[in-house]
Amino acid sequence: MLIRNEKVDKMKVEEIRKDFPILTKREKPLIYLDNAATTLKPRQVISAINEYYQEYTANVHRAIYKISQKATEAYEDAREKIAKFINAQKTSEIIFTKGTTEAINLVAYGLKWEAGDEIITTIMEHHSNIVPWQIIQRKFGIKIKYVGLEDNYKLDLNQLEKYLTEKTRLVAVTHVSNMLGTINPIREITEIAHKIGALVLVDAAQSTPHMLVDVKELGCDFLAFSGHKMLGPTGIGVLYIRDGIEDYLDPPFGGGEMIKKVTLGGCTWNDMPWRFEPGTPNIAGAIGLAAAIDYLSNLEKGELKKHEENLVKLTINQLEKISEKIEIYGSKNIDERCGIVSFNIEGIDSHDVALLLDELSNIAVRSGLHCTEPLHRFLGIKSSVRASFYIYNTEEEVNMLCNTLREIMKTFA
Ligand SMILES: Cc1ncc(COP(=O)(O)O)c(C=O)c1O
Repeated sequence: MLIRNEKVDKMKVEEIRKDFPILTKREKPLIYLDNAATTLKPRQVISAINEYYQEYTANVHRAIYKISQKATEAYEDAREKIAKFINAQKTSEIIFTKGTTEAINLVAYGLKWEAGDEIITTIMEHHSNIVPWQIIQRKFGIKIKYVGLEDNYKLDLNQLEKYLTEKTRLVAVTHVSNMLGTINPIREITEIAHKIGALVLVDAAQSTPHMLVDVKELGCDFLAFSGHKMLGPTGIGVLYIRDGIEDYLDPPFGGGEMIKKVTLGGCTWNDMPWRFEPGTPNIAGAIGLAAAIDYLSNLEKGELKKHEENLVKLTINQLEKISEKIEIYGSKNIDERCGIVSFNIEGIDSHDVALLLDELSNIAVRSGLHCTEPLHRFLGIKSSVRASFYIYNTEEEVNMLCNTLREIMKTFA
């Protein structure tokens, strides 16, 4: 039974790989293990973008001629697909942004802060979920508290409870750590935060590509993610704003489309979601993201997660066997992590490891801080190597990674 399932999985991955032009073109095949940074794009996404540019390039929401209407329909259909994808209650809860970073900044600049307000975030955040709050701290005199980690790389929820006060306006937390792969208990966190009336923002950049994300189930107020980390193009992302809290924010950017009426004396805001989308949006990006969602929707998300879990397990098992000099970060419990393995080899700089993996075997991994400097400092390390997986990665690629690491270690011995 098990063997049959494995065979089916393998066959599917081979089929999936054929959809990615970059995986079929090279003489020395590319082994792409930097999916937490951005994913490769399937031809279905590339075609959808090309089709818009070649056949119906027009602005949206403005004109009445046919191709403009077609573009508007495609753009708004994309919004509807995204709403379904994260199980939002209404399409108007979906705001298009440039990506996760812009989505988080939109909340940071949009919320009506008062001096003395408090934000709670964590030390495992990507810089995108730290720096915007630090900017707001300087501007408005708010206070930031950082929740740390307990054993097994989990967030210390007791500390979160201690940090919450009646001044806490927002808890901003990542769903999945882009360095450790830790999956955080968002539902539990929202329940704790809501008890005291704080809003909850979830950075879902590393969860929406890999697992079922259901905003109703999570109970969050804001959720941010990027299209390019889930097969879509760069420059498009999403901010989900729970229906009913939109008036807690002022639009941070003004311009066309986000207003209802403008006089020289002032203006009134447009309805949701356009209120937060000033100017010409990334139409091709939204259409590309919709094609990516179609692609992902044809895959079983549970199966996808299982496939990645297998690769993570295999990588960890093999790394542990290679040498005690390899330190692996993150939970030992595979159920608690998602698609990412970060590690260091004693005595070899992470950039040297990444350079040699590229040089020797055309393997792309990330090295350095992965925009998580506070987390690296907390772990007492200067940098790390990160391998991150997606639907098209194979066991053979994991074997190649580990064999090349063995070779590298021999060179440095
Ligand atoms: C957890 C997390 N948050 C935020 C971001 C920022 O995403 P973007 O650069 O697409 O805005 C990333 C990107 O790596 C991430 O991994």
